[in-house]
Amino acid sequence: MEGKKIIIFYYSYSSMSTEKLVKGIQEAFSNIEILLLPNEEKNDVTSYDYVGFASGIYAWDFGKPVFEKIEKLTGLEGKNVLVYAQVVQLLKNILFILKKQLKKKVENL
Ligand SMILES: Cc1cc2nc3c(=O)[nH]c(=O)nc-3n(C[C@H](O)[C@H](O)[C@H](O)COP(=O)(O)O)c2cc1C
Repeated sequence: MEGKKIIIFYYSYSSMSTEKLVKGIQEAFSNIEILLLPNEEKNDVTSYDYVGFASGIYAWDFGKPVFEKIEKLTGLEGKNVLVYAQVVQLLKNILFILKKQLKKKVENL
């Protein structure tokens, strides 16, 4: 990961636990940018090597701003993408839905 450019888009609003996690990651790795959603910045991720999405799970779904951001992003093609869900239970279906949406843009997911 050293020398790589990484950005994590995240959504967190209830206990801010997702935010605590991504901030911890950012402290551990200086080359990671984090951006709380919703946010209109960084809609082009061409210059990043890795793009991450993190969200709490609310009523069996990722936060809506995560889906909205993915729709707006350009430059995701061919990127390595990381998805993290801060959950109480493992939600395979939700991960599947997000993966499907990302697959429209990213081939090697
Ligand atoms: C309104 C609301 C709905 C939630 N729905 C679910 C759910 O359907 N499944 C689940 O596993 N966790 C659910 N949770 C728990 C959150 O995913 C969990 O608390 C998570 O850490 C929240 O992330 P945040 O603090 O970054 O917002 C819900 C929490 C809230 C506040």
